[in-house]
Amino acid sequence: MPMFRLKLMIYDTLASYYDALVKDEEATLSWVHWIESFQKPCSMLELACGSAEITQVLSHHGFQMTALDLSQGMIDQAKRKDKEQKIQFLCQDMRNLSNLTSFESIACLCDSFNYILEKEEIVSFFKEVHDHLQPEGIFFFDSHSLDRLDEFSEEFNETGHIEDVDYQWSITSEEEIIYQDFAFYKENGEVIQEHHMQRVYDPEWLKEALHPYFYIESIKTDFDLEGIQPGEKYFFVCRRK
Ligand SMILES: C[S@@+](CC[C@H](N)C(=O)[O-])C[C@H]1O[C@@H](n2cnc3c(N)ncnc32)[C@H](O)[C@@H]1O
Repeated sequence: MPMFRLKLMIYDTLASYYDALVKDEEATLSWVHWIESFQKPCSMLELACGSAEITQVLSHHGFQMTALDLSQGMIDQAKRKDKEQKIQFLCQDMRNLSNLTSFESIACLCDSFNYILEKEEIVSFFKEVHDHLQPEGIFFFDSHSLDRLDEFSEEFNETGHIEDVDYQWSITSEEEIIYQDFAFYKENGEVIQEHHMQRVYDPEWLKEALHPYFYIESIKTDFDLEGIQPGEKYFFVCRRK
């Protein structure tokens, strides 16, 4: 009889399987090239760095990286890769940066931004990022597109086997929320589940929310389409006011 356990902390179990599930070296380089097309190596704070695939490449390219994530499991995975120990890792919530100094650049990548679920929180997040950027510092973030809501209105399902587990990954959407459900079927009969929610914001609303704190230097869709277009992700480059 399987024993089901729902993990309340997202990325607690997923952290061990994250790279095996989603690691994509070509996509990592696309994020790095996008950042480098606007920013020379500098001091950078990466919010929600996850297992630090992008962080590592930026560090190798000369960026002085401080990287944080809410999940200790993700930070543990990230630290293992940092053989030269050049990156400062912190386990903390990106919505409160009060313990940190200021940086020449701040980045929040790979739809991590969409884990902030309330509009009021987005507004205070933008202020927090502004307050921890040096004058004219650049804030990079990407977000799920509105098209993803349509795409996942029909459930996406993936099943497979990685390392010691079978897994099931389903994605659905309802109104402005994307729901991702993961189930990991362990050999001892235990089934570990994680339930993730991400909110997708209208890019026109995001522009208004950014306005008090940032000049928008660039918005692209899927890295190289100019402006808001049909696609998977919007990419924002914002300069601190
Ligand atoms: C889709 S992963 C992306 C990770 C990484 N940016 C990458 O490029 O692979 C989302 C990450 O956001 C982190 N996260 C979610 N909410 C957070 C929060 N409030 N503060 C810090 N990290 C958060 C999760 O722990 C997870 O590692």
